[in-house]
Amino acid sequence: MKIAFFSAKPYDKTFFNKYNEAHGFELEFWETHLGPHVVNAITEGTEVVCVFVNDKLTAEVIDIMAAKGVKIIALRCAGFNNVNLDRAKEHGIRICRVPAYSPEAVAEHAVAMLLTLNRKTHKAYNRVREQNFSLNGLLGFNLHGRTVGVIGTGKIGKAFCKIMLGFGCKILAYDIFEDETLKKDGVQYLPFVEVLNQSDILSLHCPLTIENHYLINESTITKMKKGVTIINTSRGGLLNTHDVIQALKAGHIAYLGIDVYEQEEKLFFKDLSASIIENDEIQRLMSFPNVLVTGHQAFFTEEALSQIASITLNSIDHLINGSLPTDQSVLLV
Ligand code: NAI
Repeated sequence: MKIAFFSAKPYDKTFFNKYNEAHGFELEFWETHLGPHVVNAITEGTEVVCVFVNDKLTAEVIDIMAAKGVKIIALRCAGFNNVNLDRAKEHGIRICRVPAYSPEAVAEHAVAMLLTLNRKTHKAYNRVREQNFSLNGLLGFNLHGRTVGVIGTGKIGKAFCKIMLGFGCKILAYDIFEDETLKKDGVQYLPFVEVLNQSDILSLHCPLTIENHYLINESTITKMKKGVTIINTSRGGLLNTHDVIQALKAGHIAYLGIDVYEQEEKLFFKDLSASIIENDEIQRLMSFPNVLVTGHQAFFTEEALSQIASITLNSIDHLINGSLPTDQSVLLV
C-alpha cells in the first residue's frame, strides 16, 4: 500500500520512515507542494496522499486524485483550511488529520516570540557578536502584571494561558466556547472587543475560518491599546497585513511576532537566501526592528514530529483496514 507525501522535507522522511517500521507501508516522498500543477504525477497504486499546511487540495485537485484511485487524504497537521472537504466527501475519500500533537510546542513558541520582543534578545544577540555591550535601545518591559488577551482557548490557547498565568499575567480570553477549568485557574472570558480594549499583549490561537478572515484589521486595531503587542502563531489570514503595517508605522502596534503569514505558501519552508523576494509586504514586515518573523516553525519539536508521524500512520492503518481510529477526532470526513 503506497502513501505519497507532498511538501516532504528531510525531517518528514526521518520521522515517517522511523514510525513506518511498525506498519511497512510503501512511502513515496515528493518535495513539491500539492496543487493542480503536480497532481497528475501521483503514481498508480497510490491509495493515500499525505499533505501539509500549504498543499492546495482544491475541488479540481481532489477530482483528479479520486480518478486516480486515492482513497485517503492524511493531513499531517491540525488545520484544514486548505482542503475542500465537501468535494472529498462527494468522492467518498476519507480525510484524517492530527488534531493535537503537541499544543505545548506551539504555545511555547508563542511565548518565545513574546520574550524575544519584550526583551529585544534578537537585537542583543547580534549586538554582542559585534562586541557592542551597550544597553542603549534594549530597554524592555516586564510580563509580570501585564494583561494578556488570548483569542481562542482550545488546546494551544489553553497551554498558552497556563504558561502566562505562571508569569503572573492577568489573562483575558475570547472564545465561542468558554473553558470552565481555565476560569477556575483565573482566566476571565470577555466579549472580543473588551479583550482588545484591555490587553497589553494579544495572542491568536483560533483557527482561520471564512467568518474570522482578517480578524485583525484597521477597525479592530483601533480598539486595541496604543502600544499593543500582537503574537500570531495560528494562521496568516487572521491578520490583514496591510493594516498591520500601517499600525506599526503609526506606532499603534508596538511589537509584532508572526509565525504565520497570509501568503506564506510561496515563502515558508524554502531556502530563498539567494532569491529576490517579490512579496513587498513580508519584506516591509521584516524591515521593522520590532517585528519578529519565524517561518511556521511553532510546531517544530522532536516531540511534535514523533506524534505527527505516529498518529498519521496509525490513522491510515485503521482506515485502510476498514476500522475506525480509536480517537475519532482525527477524522474530518
Ligand atoms: P483547537 O480546535 O483545540 O482550538 C481552537 C479554539 O478556537 C476552539 O476553542 C474554538 O472554539 C476557538 N475558536 C474558533 N473560532 C473562533 C473565533 N472566531 N474566535 C475565537 N475563538 C474561536 O485548535 P488548536 O489545536 O488549539 O489550534 C489552534 C490553531 O493553531 C489551529 O487552527 C492552527 O491554525 C494553529 N496551529 C499553528 C501551528 C504552527 O506551527 N504555527 C501548529 C498547529 C496549529
